[in-house]
Amino acid sequence: MIRRLLGLTLSVALAGCEGTQNALGGQGAEGANFIRLFTFFMVVCTVMYLLVIAGLAVALWRRRREGLTVEDRRHHQMSPVVRPALIVWTALIVIGLSVLVVASFFSDRSNAAHTRRPALTLTVTANQWWWDVRYDTADPSKIVRTANEIHLPVGVPVQVMFKSNDVIHSFWVPNLAGKQDLIPGRTTDVQLLPRTAGLYRGQCAEFCGIAHALMALDITVESKADFQRWYAAQLRPAAPPKTSLQLAGYRYATTRECATCHNIGGTPASGQVAPDLTHFASRRSIAAGTLPMNKGNLYGWIADPQSQKPGNRMPTVGLNAPELHALVAYLESLK
Ligand code: CUA
Repeated sequence: MIRRLLGLTLSVALAGCEGTQNALGGQGAEGANFIRLFTFFMVVCTVMYLLVIAGLAVALWRRRREGLTVEDRRHHQMSPVVRPALIVWTALIVIGLSVLVVASFFSDRSNAAHTRRPALTLTVTANQWWWDVRYDTADPSKIVRTANEIHLPVGVPVQVMFKSNDVIHSFWVPNLAGKQDLIPGRTTDVQLLPRTAGLYRGQCAEFCGIAHALMALDITVESKADFQRWYAAQLRPAAPPKTSLQLAGYRYATTRECATCHNIGGTPASGQVAPDLTHFASRRSIAAGTLPMNKGNLYGWIADPQSQKPGNRMPTVGLNAPELHALVAYLESLK
């Protein structure tokens, strides 16, 4: 029983330490800085705690040895070591707290220094329950728009601006940095400096409605060359349909319900209220990290989105089998 309980406690505690979503991963400059500060706080606080416990143990031991009671204390002389011990203890507390204040000040300064001149600026707009991602550039023809995924070049300082279209959400990629709220009517931001290439998972960290728990995003930190390749591919319009099945899917997607909400670059589908689908099939997941990207999940998602992610804003369109086959074939071609 105790072993089972211990196992359960440990597994819950360590659930936050999985590779792709790990607050102690430290793959970003801010995250690493925070872990250093956290460790320092832990060490200082542990030493203080042990000193308090040791003091308590000594007091208890003395009381037993001398057989003192509460009444005795009125007549009991203050031991000559008590006064200097109290002075040392007070000094220790003042020094300990001051050291912690100085450490957090420098940690904060160092975070700000990492990204004073961001080389890349993104705007992430939160929606119930997905992330709209835009890479901002001075040249409007070079703006990339995607959804529920962010690619970042390793070692490049990035500024991410945050907006929200509905309620308060919170952007959290534990491996890279701390949380930042996305607030309707306001712009907030976070500076990132990813230091280790890899795949990470971000998660909305502020309760924002029924599908809050299914509002994740995929972060890919890659070499500069890989990032530039990805960026160049994202700039291209959607791939034209190649087979007759894909063509049927293209016709459906661009003339029927899908086009009301979704944008597919280079086609007549130009809806703006749902995720951009121009390079949909190049992503790792469907529905903001809810399902891995594969054929089976695509069928399930389009046929009955509410059973996959209850409450989400995608209606059940009620496609017949040929329409569903065609649409899946077309969406899978949108690499
Ligand atoms: Cu968005 Cu929780």
